[in-house]
Amino acid sequence: MSYSEKLIDHYQHPKNVGTLDKSKTNVGTGLVGAPECGDVMRLQIEVDEATGLISDAKFKTFGCGSAIASSSLATEWLKGKTVDQALAIDNMDIVEELNLPPVKIHCSVLAEDAIKAAINDYRVKNGMPELELEGKK
Ligand code: FES
Ligand code: FES
Repeated sequence: MSYSEKLIDHYQHPKNVGTLDKSKTNVGTGLVGAPECGDVMRLQIEVDEATGLISDAKFKTFGCGSAIASSSLATEWLKGKTVDQALAIDNMDIVEELNLPPVKIHCSVLAEDAIKAAINDYRVKNGMPELELEGKK
């Protein structure tokens, strides 16, 4: 199996590893697990209430290299987006960008699910209805 250089770079030098203060109302936290392998990902967004843009994103992933790389890439993509734009991030964009092999596609699904879970947490905290998420698994 050959992995892309971008994947290896995100795995070896993951961006935005860390934790945001989940008690803040402008921070959304998503915690998801992959039934395929038991890996777990936590992804958080912080929304700048003045601009409506995601000003920060952090993750912690207990899992395989592809899951770490997928979440690292996701946090980079999230910054500067509106919450609606963030909702449009599709796991297949991650698959393409990192050139993930078929057995690792579920790792990118984990990242997409974590983004959506973080957005939902943010929405609920701010009095918006929870979105219905269709599982992709
Ligand atoms: Fe072992 Fe993902 S299956 S780390
Ligand atoms: Fe399960 Fe990558 S998240 S192998």
